[in-house]
Amino acid sequence: MSKKVTVSTIQKIKNSGAKFSVLTAYDYSTAKYIDEAGIDIVLIGDSLAMVALGYETTHCIGVEEMRIFTKAVAKGVQHAMVVTDMPFLSYHCDLASAVKNCGEMVRCGANAVKIEGYSEYILQVIKRLVESGIPVMGHLGFTPQFLNTLGGYKIQGKTTEATEKILKEAKELEAAGVFSIVLEMVPQESAKYITENLKVPTISCGAGKYCDAQVLVSDDVFGKYSDFKPKFARKYGDMKTLIYDCAKQFDEDVKNGNFPSEEEVF
Ligand code: KIV
Repeated sequence: MSKKVTVSTIQKIKNSGAKFSVLTAYDYSTAKYIDEAGIDIVLIGDSLAMVALGYETTHCIGVEEMRIFTKAVAKGVQHAMVVTDMPFLSYHCDLASAVKNCGEMVRCGANAVKIEGYSEYILQVIKRLVESGIPVMGHLGFTPQFLNTLGGYKIQGKTTEATEKILKEAKELEAAGVFSIVLEMVPQESAKYITENLKVPTISCGAGKYCDAQVLVSDDVFGKYSDFKPKFARKYGDMKTLIYDCAKQFDEDVKNGNFPSEEEVF
């Protein structure tokens, strides 16, 4: 088994010009398998509110739920870095509660946390977390927790001015101490420019091929979540059909007496 991925591993990958991979996971066995597959960062994304819990937006999940899912995922992971996405309002109220809530995730097995957005206050939160020994992944471009203020699922950084604004914010996050930055729904050329002007790695979530890493929601990759598929996601499997077929076969076997067999009884 290869060595545990840390913030310095991630920076070394960026410096060498290689790429790294990030996938979300919400449960023990999925985390175990994607870790064994060689994924570098396993993210307990707050996307779990929608894809695993069926809520309408990521606003509906809180610290307590993220603690439970973090514990489950962390137990499954040996090699990858485990990052917990801090939910809506868990770091916005004041610095003390931000450090406490993020620290709780580390207690549950996270190696780092992800926080969305940029403001003078967010910069203070990042500094305080890093001073407390909690590595932070930033998240700019489209930030789902700001859905209502952004006015919907909109591509960010479409103009030169908007790209320069994201770069300025990214540089300030970098100076505050983040070890990486997710760029979500940013045009490929804008993300390329931002990536080339940062020291820390960028992680594309629908921001094209020039970022240092790619992240996708695992339920999109596995073909499990079918309510909506973002344009930038790639489906590598069809778990929805697999689950349906297995459940259908089991249902038939139970009803026609084919389950259990002689080998399946005591
Ligand atoms: O919530 C999430 O899963 C995310 C990633 C897709 C970046 O924030």
